Amino acid sequence: MAVKKLMDNIYEVGAEHHERELFDELIPLPDGTSYNAFLVQGSEKTVLLDTVDPSKEERLFKNLDRLGVEKIDYLVSHHAEQDHSGSIPSVLEEYPDAEVVTNSKCKDMLIDHLQVPEDKFKVVESEEELSLGDKTLKFIDMPWVHWPETLVTYLKEKNLLFSCDFFGSHLATSNLFVQDRRKVYLSAKRYYAEIMMPFRSSIQGHLDKIDEMEIDIIAPSHGPIYGDPDFILDAYKDWASDGTKGEVLVPYISMHGSTEKMVKHFVDYLSEKGVDVSPYYLSSTDLGQLAMSLVDASTVVIGTPTVLVGPHPEAVYTTYLANALRPKTRYASIIGSYGWGGRMPDQIKDMLGNFDGEFLEPVISKGHPSKEDLEKVEELADDIIKKHRKDDLVK
Ligand code: FEO
Repeated sequence: MAVKKLMDNIYEVGAEHHERELFDELIPLPDGTSYNAFLVQGSEKTVLLDTVDPSKEERLFKNLDRLGVEKIDYLVSHHAEQDHSGSIPSVLEEYPDAEVVTNSKCKDMLIDHLQVPEDKFKVVESEEELSLGDKTLKFIDMPWVHWPETLVTYLKEKNLLFSCDFFGSHLATSNLFVQDRRKVYLSAKRYYAEIMMPFRSSIQGHLDKIDEMEIDIIAPSHGPIYGDPDFILDAYKDWASDGTKGEVLVPYISMHGSTEKMVKHFVDYLSEKGVDVSPYYLSSTDLGQLAMSLVDASTVVIGTPTVLVGPHPEAVYTTYLANALRPKTRYASIIGSYGWGGRMPDQIKDMLGNFDGEFLEPVISKGHPSKEDLEKVEELADDIIKKHRKDDLVK
């Protein structure tokens, strides 16, 4: 495969990872991912921006060979996480003159994670510039895109932002630039949902800062490059905003059919009333898809039976994850059942410590749901519709 050329003297030299199935051993990757690394050749200096996951470093070196790169003056590290930094030690072996350019926090983390020698670093401050001759790099700290040390690089002469994880998408593709917007939108939302959603307020601040910059191209460290950045900037502004959509999510699991009967009644009832409702059966759910829905849903109702006096472990896992992702959900509740006892609803509530919306009265049946239980399910649905109307979430 040919090296991908962005423009004269600027290349993407990283690697696609088509066969990667999970990110962080957690979120499924239906379309793989990629680790973008960029080579920028100035009239005087050559810089490599980030490396690749160590499992793909052979491809990085092959790309550098194809370009005939004999010397790298600077190796910019935007982020110490190993999918971008993991091949720094190998690059330093191959290109011993390279100085690792990063901020002081990232430097400390690279020493901790990769044992990069202290004397290899050139530490830069936020807004500091570095001349490559005919090109100028400007470094800008953007902490808490999901780690505390992250920075980005702005190539001033080209209005080109190398944004690291920010705006990235889990999509392995040979297309250098975005071709299929819908596909990239979903892959980027999957990525945002898993790692950036918990840091929404930081993301809002960074978006404000980026709005003040003149940017023609955004080159993230995952997925294709945005030649028309408004598309992804608008998507991020929407995801990171305080607004939610009128969707009701129902992640659920059932053992003997009682919880399932109530959940189905709830879903059918909401559907008939024209509410956008999405059930997710937890033993077969793509957690990435559920996380994406959590980005803007207004209401989450967890469906679970009682097992060993508590929630079903599938519901525990999902509740834990949903709490950790800190979605902007406004309303939450539980639909569930028990055979003889237990404290399932309290345990679910206790697990939602980050939730600062309103908790609606759960509907819990003893054994098979009675007519009265199903009426309570309808009352819960009506209550949700009323809340959504009040919040102007219903068309
Ligand atoms: Fe793509 Fe946070 O690493």
